[in-house]
Amino acid sequence: MNLSVQLAPKHQRGLLLANPVMTASGTFGYGTEYSHLFDIQRLGAIVCKGTTLKPREGNPQPRLAETASGLLNSIGLQNIGVKALIKEKAPLWASWRVPVIVNIAGETVDDYAQLAGELDRIAGISAIEVNISCPNIKAGGAEFGAKPESAAEVTAAVKAATSLPVLVKLTPNTSDIVKIAKAVAEAGADAISLINTLRGTVIDIGKRRPLLGNISGGLSGPAIKPVALYMVYEVAGVVEVPVVGCGGITTASDAIEFIMAGASAIQVGTANFTNPRAPLDILEGIEQFMQKEGISNLTDLIGAAQG
Ligand SMILES: Cc1cc2nc3c(=O)[nH]c(=O)nc-3n(C[C@H](O)[C@H](O)[C@H](O)COP(=O)(O)O)c2cc1C
Repeated sequence: MNLSVQLAPKHQRGLLLANPVMTASGTFGYGTEYSHLFDIQRLGAIVCKGTTLKPREGNPQPRLAETASGLLNSIGLQNIGVKALIKEKAPLWASWRVPVIVNIAGETVDDYAQLAGELDRIAGISAIEVNISCPNIKAGGAEFGAKPESAAEVTAAVKAATSLPVLVKLTPNTSDIVKIAKAVAEAGADAISLINTLRGTVIDIGKRRPLLGNISGGLSGPAIKPVALYMVYEVAGVVEVPVVGCGGITTASDAIEFIMAGASAIQVGTANFTNPRAPLDILEGIEQFMQKEGISNLTDLIGAAQG
């Protein structure tokens, strides 16, 4: 069976995955944290924790709250910073078979461009995923990904600063995700990942206050799956570049739904917290499904549910 997928077909070097199962940023650390639990080299790709120019301590506690079929988090991009990532993590990744994709976050367009420049030509880094769900401090804190213009501006700046393939990760917190997807594809994104978390909150009724230290957080997990799936379906139907589906994927059948909706690959996020082997279980479940259905090439399933 052939499960391989090319996520950057128009890119000079490309981004070839042995299979479509990736991990979602912020839910799988730097990969190393999971290496004693299963053979992480079997995954299609690992996306590491969101990385910023300077190390960040993140938001005040509490930063996690469970909701019905979901999780609210306001981690606030706690991370070691790009310099430590290059020095401490990349050399290890360089010896791995599984490609590692670095997820980046910034407060200005220049931050993103600088990050992309620093990560360029570092052994062990196969691609960049741009998190555009971050507040643009020069535009009053609106998310870069909320408007086509700012989403395209970040994409173009990152593309100009790196020779690596670039995935742009969309936020669902916008009125028209199709417009944003088209804008980032036109600006040069090699692939589009979606979705990031949906903004939400929870109130502690004993204290009569929001429970999270940051007041709001990002909703993830099975609760968001139908929203994510529909956005993937819509976006994959109109853009030429590969789409990576993410949002509530917990089982192989969830993953197959996203692939049939048009995703070339999928990311497993919150499911890692309840089942750290979830990505591998999902990969094996996809293989079993293909065997049962007599499908020898994964590409035959991609977009199968598109009209
Ligand atoms: C604890 C936590 C931390 C996250 N950190 C990041 C991050 O640093 N960068 C990013 O682009 N997405 C981040 N995400 C979003 C996930 O990568 C993913 O897009 C989202 O959770 C939806 O997928 P899921 O429902 O499978 O978790 C984070 C999610 C969680 C739950």
